[in-house]
Amino acid sequence: MKSNIIVCKNHQEASLRAAELTSDVIARTPHLTATFAAGNTPLDCYRELLRRQKEEGLLLDRARYIGLDEWVGLGPNDAGSCFAIMNPNYYLPADIPVENIYAFDGLTSNLDVEAARMQETLSRYPLDLAVLGIGVNGHVGFNEPGIPTTGDFSLVSLSESTQTVGRKYFAGNSTPTEGATITLQALKRAKTVVIIATGANKREAVSTILSGSDQLPAGAFLDHPGAIYVLDEDAAGQEKR
Ligand code: PGA
Repeated sequence: MKSNIIVCKNHQEASLRAAELTSDVIARTPHLTATFAAGNTPLDCYRELLRRQKEEGLLLDRARYIGLDEWVGLGPNDAGSCFAIMNPNYYLPADIPVENIYAFDGLTSNLDVEAARMQETLSRYPLDLAVLGIGVNGHVGFNEPGIPTTGDFSLVSLSESTQTVGRKYFAGNSTPTEGATITLQALKRAKTVVIIATGANKREAVSTILSGSDQLPAGAFLDHPGAIYVLDEDAAGQEKR
């Protein structure tokens, strides 16, 4: 297995390991620009970062955060939006000043202008750190297998898989069909990328990635010198010890 792949015993250990890697970067980079994924997987990693902030003085609030992705048609206060996940789980408890959070507004009246604003933000503040999850279909952010993106921030049609899996965030309501995302090309320029995948439902995607196939967006960081995949045994397909 490649050296930038860490396999932890379970989800909790993977979350702690990812938080350790992330907090090392945060601690040594004073004017950090980061993007943090809004799925369920990284939430325990964020919880550990918050604990380190409270108990060890880790400076989370001097960084700048650029939202990784958003569902088109959902605003910051809509249940299930990426912002509505990040805000109570990270931005608010970490006390991040609102002016240091840059997020795509899925309710915008002009998608192209809003995407251009995000693109401009990424040009002004290149990413130092990306904390990412892996979708069941191998996506990162809303970079979907086989669906093209443009520039550093792109509007995308969401795959069937993402729409189906996304229902977990929307309590039975219909899932948006379009998304907006920081693209792979911009993510690959981040100096440090921490990619977390836990649970048996990620095993198929992870196994394709580990096979070295370049089919899945989440495999794009295998040769990135600053990327680390943090897996648990279920996602890595390893026997329990
Ligand atoms: P999850 O989402 O962490 O909720 O599984 C990951 C993703 O779809 O990127």
